[in-house]
Amino acid sequence: FQPKLLAGKRVLMTAGPTFEALDPVRGLTNLSSGKMGFALARACAEAGAEVTLVSGPVSQPTPAGVTRVDVKSALQMREAVLNHVSTSDIFIGVAAVADYRPVETAADKIKKTGETLTVEFTRNPDILAEVAALPAAPFSVGFAAESRDLDNYAQGKLSAKKLKLVVGNLVQDGMGGDTNQVVLFDAAGRHPLPLASKDEVARGIVSHISKLLS
Ligand code: C5P
Repeated sequence: FQPKLLAGKRVLMTAGPTFEALDPVRGLTNLSSGKMGFALARACAEAGAEVTLVSGPVSQPTPAGVTRVDVKSALQMREAVLNHVSTSDIFIGVAAVADYRPVETAADKIKKTGETLTVEFTRNPDILAEVAALPAAPFSVGFAAESRDLDNYAQGKLSAKKLKLVVGNLVQDGMGGDTNQVVLFDAAGRHPLPLASKDEVARGIVSHISKLLS
């Protein structure tokens, strides 16, 4: 009999993009299918964890046994995460959170009057950094999707956001598709995983998390 790797653990996760409304019909978002996050939620549940998945707008089915909380904006995502974080052992931020949101959301549809349109944006809170800095922070895991210089940026995030693990991938490897190639960065260094389906990569991440926890 092999005990499940995350039996008894409570996992809180974010996945998908956020959508920052500009007016009732438009907004700013990120390219994120949610596939990697949903695969990871499935792998955590299969490993015996109790999983709460806070998801931005995606068209992914909810994995069996996973509690899903749907949100749109980064501020809503932050609120949902903070509502659940005190009862979580592990937090995994997979969401592609928009870095900025419009300062104002127009109540009515913006009409095309001028030749140019200027919108002022303000920084969104960093949900992952905030969770990892809590006095009773869960074991916190982040993702780093970069278009270049992956090692530098991923290692930078590990220390700047005080994380236990960063899953790094070059965006051209993973975006939108069903396979991904990632490198895991932790205090001991870098651990590349082979190119595989997102489900297999997710199981590799779960197995690394369980090793770090024990
Ligand atoms: O700094 P960067 O946005 O590249 O960091 C990516 C990691 O931080 C991901 O794990 C992402 O889910 C998380 N993040 C967050 N809130 C933000 C921005 C990023 O939780 N506002």
